[in-house]
Amino acid sequence: YSLARLHEPLLAWYDTCKREIPWRGASSSYFVWVSEIMLQQTRVEAVRAYFLRFTAALPTLQHLAECDEQTLLKLWEGLGYYNRVRNMQKAAKIVMEQYGGELPRSYELLLTLPGIGEYTAGAIASIAYNIPVPCVDGNVMRVLSRVTANSADITLSSVKKDYQVLAQSMIPMDDSSNSPALQDRSSPRAGDFNQSLMELGATVCVPNGAPLCDVCPIQTQCKAFLSGNPQHYPVKTAK
Ligand code: ADE
Repeated sequence: YSLARLHEPLLAWYDTCKREIPWRGASSSYFVWVSEIMLQQTRVEAVRAYFLRFTAALPTLQHLAECDEQTLLKLWEGLGYYNRVRNMQKAAKIVMEQYGGELPRSYELLLTLPGIGEYTAGAIASIAYNIPVPCVDGNVMRVLSRVTANSADITLSSVKKDYQVLAQSMIPMDDSSNSPALQDRSSPRAGDFNQSLMELGATVCVPNGAPLCDVCPIQTQCKAFLSGNPQHYPVKTAK
């Protein structure tokens, strides 16, 4: 496989091995957003319960926009980083006023909303709307640094940019559409592909001494595995 075809074993693995979590499957963009904000600070296993409680109380973006602050902070209790949920409410109000209550189907417009940075915009655009944009967090950089045996320091923003470009180039594209603008082309599995990288990083290509290379679907294409020293990647300088 070339890097451009690595999506094949990754998607096949994701289809059979992904963890069942409440926001996978028929997910609204609102649910994707809530889950991805929660996941920035908390592990998948712990997020489940918070997510179910939050979305039971606030089932739509409109509910979030209209929620009183006391109730909102109460629903976030245990997750910490309360500015995150405050920003979510600010963004929800803007979405109600300017976008008719639905998160915009555009990576650039998502980026303009409070609390939505490159990672979250990429997650919403790809997972909710299958827009072919990358979604690069620490898990994804670890996977890609190992696949390519790249010892560039992942704490540098220029290096993160490089991984965003690489991840973008790996998204499977529907060849039948040939619009010159990449984001206007369709990728029926952009969201699954991005999640396959995150999921691999969280469950198999784990940090520190013990990546589970024996069960990795892309072991034979991984330069770090082939070098015998997958644990040498990624390189991260102490801040
Ligand atoms: N970590 C953050 N978002 C995730 C997702 N959608 N799937 C798996 N791990 C994640």
